Amino acid sequence: MASQLDDVTWPLRTERLSLRPATREDAEATWGFRRLEVVSEWITRAPQSLEDYREQFEDPVWQAKTLVFELDGRVIGDMMLAFEDAWAQAEVTEQAEGVQAELGYVMHPDHAGLGYASEAVRELLRLCFEELGVRRVTASCFADNESSWRLMERVGMRRELYAVKESLHRSGAWLDGMGYALLAEEWRSMRADAASAGMDRAVQP
Ligand SMILES: CC(C)(COP(=O)(O)OP(=O)(O)OC[C@H]1O[C@@H](n2cnc3c(N)ncnc32)[C@H](O)[C@@H]1OP(=O)(O)O)[C@@H](O)C(=O)NCCC(=O)NCCS
Repeated sequence: MASQLDDVTWPLRTERLSLRPATREDAEATWGFRRLEVVSEWITRAPQSLEDYREQFEDPVWQAKTLVFELDGRVIGDMMLAFEDAWAQAEVTEQAEGVQAELGYVMHPDHAGLGYASEAVRELLRLCFEELGVRRVTASCFADNESSWRLMERVGMRRELYAVKESLHRSGAWLDGMGYALLAEEWRSMRADAASAGMDRAVQP
């Protein structure tokens, strides 16, 4: 399935990780953490068997928006990057096509607490803003999913929405939801601040 991701030179490398589009062969590795309740508790789907999971994973629509990140050659997490049209008035809809992206992320809990997920998400933000010309990136979570919204804040995303009892959890409870976003100009200004802080450090004794 054609996607903006087809034009990217893979893999992308960060200080510790390697990122690439998911393939059919990644089903088992990602099932290794997605089947855990601590992971599936907050995510959209919780298939009950590898067979059911494969059906979801091998769906071309799912594959086209799924990336994995590897540490020392082993898949430790996966991410969604879904390109979207922005809402626009009728006369300008074409200019709003594919200009924003929604992110999602899941990581094996064995690797939690070491900054790997933030490192992978930051690289996706860089890709979106610096290579793909995306103007706005969003992500959302249940308000009770603290590790998720803390990650969004760690990478510099801005909380835009706190919605009361708007999302239905599979437990049957209506839970609060939160929405975060980052604009290309905010990303550029964060990068400029980080670069000048680095330069300041460099001139310090
Ligand atoms: C959301 C999720 C990926 C976050 O994982 P995480 O381990 O908290 O995130 P990171 O890998 O970025 O690690 C951040 C932690 O490592 C610490 N850390 C250590 N070294 C670090 C470094 N070099 N850089 C950044 N953080 C570092 C941070 O201080 C932070 O710890 P804290 O939470 O105690 O403050 C994980 O909880 C998960 O997979 N959850 C289940 C799926 C899910 O809910 N997905 C989101 C659906 S909306």
